[in-house]
Amino acid sequence: MNAHPHQPEPSFLAQRVLGAKPSATKEMTRLANQLKREGRDVITLSQGEPDFPTPEHVREAGKAAIDRNESRYTDVAGTFALREAVARKFARDNGLVFSPEQIQVGCGAKQLLYNALQATIDPGDEVVVPTPAWVSYPEMVLLAGGQPVIVRCGAATGFKLTPQQLDEAITPRTKWLMLNSPSNPSGAVYSHAELTALGEVLVRHPRVWVMADDIYEKIRYEHTPFATPAAVTPALAGRTLTINGVSKAYAMTGWRVGFGAGPLKLIQAMNLVQSQSTSHTSSISQAAALAALDGPMDFLPAFVAAFRRRRELVVDGLNAIEGLRCDSPPGAFYAFPGCQGLLGRRDAANELIATDTDLALYLLRQAGVAVVPGSAFELPGHFRVSYATSDEELAEAMRRIALACAELR
Ligand SMILES: Cc1ncc(COP(=O)(O)O)c(C=O)c1O
Repeated sequence: MNAHPHQPEPSFLAQRVLGAKPSATKEMTRLANQLKREGRDVITLSQGEPDFPTPEHVREAGKAAIDRNESRYTDVAGTFALREAVARKFARDNGLVFSPEQIQVGCGAKQLLYNALQATIDPGDEVVVPTPAWVSYPEMVLLAGGQPVIVRCGAATGFKLTPQQLDEAITPRTKWLMLNSPSNPSGAVYSHAELTALGEVLVRHPRVWVMADDIYEKIRYEHTPFATPAAVTPALAGRTLTINGVSKAYAMTGWRVGFGAGPLKLIQAMNLVQSQSTSHTSSISQAAALAALDGPMDFLPAFVAAFRRRRELVVDGLNAIEGLRCDSPPGAFYAFPGCQGLLGRRDAANELIATDTDLALYLLRQAGVAVVPGSAFELPGHFRVSYATSDEELAEAMRRIALACAELR
């Protein structure tokens, strides 16, 4: 008997969905959880979220909003008070001036990226995606009917796009450049000088817009000021969407609040998309995000210090393993080691480890450690380790990865 009698025919599903991939990070986490249910002891380093609690004053603001009965629909773009707080944040931290009308609040930074692509992409439009890039970028472009133009940026350039690569990737169909700094998965951070050089290329291509994903802005380990394209190259401000949110800096991934700011006409088009999909993110979450943005940031140094310690632990642990190579990433909470040195070897059962995906599956199977293969981020030959977990778990994970890698011949 058919165990799933209500499956749709393949022809029922839209081509754009059939062509898109589910998130590889979520898939590795699912496999890890499956092994856990079977009783295996698995350490999950495949998830990208801080393990700290949301700061207390933010949680209290959420509770107070519930008690005040802030349980009604808000403006599609987000409450006016929150958009004013977002405007203050951009002015204070980034030197960017926006009116509340130029700001959209959505269900996480993710929805801002999604809305922007839905609002602007026509079939065949191209979006330049320097990789390694967050798994969702190319898929969101495809779901919008566009064409991601993958530009691979390896360890030699610190996993960063060079001006020449950008210039070569731009065609008459290019609509956007998606830029993420600090980067998921590489932790790379673009300096002021590097953004200036990319800006010089973009100034020569006036039809290309910039989607700057700054969600990891606050998680950086160097003492240089944060650089974002619209501030570095003011000539680009009229065609840049700057995206940020509270998920990573305030350990608020589940609250689902992100925001973006840019030219009014773009934000209005994005509001239209959002009005016909989610309407807005939760009113309670918006109240909590307001408290986060206007409140003290005194908890942040302790967050960053913990991440820095874990980064050292992971980078040292990985570099001690023959066949792996890992530069110390200047931002975010991911390490992105190269694993070419291990590919082509065989495990104890004589199974060939030919690709980074084979290696990630082997590490899950053999070491009980879930990492994400670099090919999921469009840069094969690497894997991503999220170090947003306890020191003890990380130390144990490094020990297990070392043992498993040593068994490869
Ligand atoms: C580069 C990047 N952008 C955006 C997001 C999404 O953030 P949010 O949880 O606010 O939707 C993530 C989350 O992992 C990310 O890594």
